[in-house]
Amino acid sequence: MYHITMIIAIDGPAGAGKSTVAKEVARRLGYGYLDTGAMYRAVTWNALRTQADLHDEEALGRLAGESRLELRDSHILIDGHDVTEAIRLPDVGEAVSIVSRAPQMRAHMVIKQREMAARLGDIVVEGRDIGTVVFPDAEVKVFLTARADERARRRVIELRGKGLEIEAAAVEAEIAARDRIDSGRRVSPLEKAADACEIDTTDKSIVDVVDIILRLVAECSTR
Ligand code: DC
Repeated sequence: MYHITMIIAIDGPAGAGKSTVAKEVARRLGYGYLDTGAMYRAVTWNALRTQADLHDEEALGRLAGESRLELRDSHILIDGHDVTEAIRLPDVGEAVSIVSRAPQMRAHMVIKQREMAARLGDIVVEGRDIGTVVFPDAEVKVFLTARADERARRRVIELRGKGLEIEAAAVEAEIAARDRIDSGRRVSPLEKAADACEIDTTDKSIVDVVDIILRLVAECSTR
């Protein structure tokens, strides 16, 4: 008997429910969990901290290559700073899509993501380009979507839960801007992999979405 590592790739736009669903799938299966968006956010936090030029792609590539990213339990550290909370704040949210366009930066991130995943074994990985670029051979690929107003509504609830009072219209505009940049960038844009299963989460509960993914995993395991 031998065991082949299972990779479950979950991609989709902001607010489609990726993090909640991916964490729950990982918990139910006892798998590792990798949030690649948190990695892009951490490098963006470092770019803002060091006042890097967000439009200088080479400088961002160097910064990503030199930054030391660590995952400890559910915390993310960059160059020794625990940025778990700070990366969720609006300043990082506004800059992250711009920073994430840089091809040199993405190349470093993909290497780091593959290294981290290799250490974690069976794993659920969430992001924008996991099924297309980072793990094109993932055993299970899911593309989560939801209507734009519903995605904004979820983000507002999340931010208010953190004590941030933010206008729904501003959140909707930020999400729309991020969608535009993430889907329109030259290198590894946000797009559904041809062999991914698309799930519209607008009118579905978290439990329903998790169950659909667990069924896909079970089908894959018996193939
Ligand atoms: O999942 P998130 O909202 O935390 O991701 C933040 C940003 O990071 C997203 O708008 C674009 C970028 N990102 C990316 O380019 N590729 C990934 N695999 C994950 C995130």
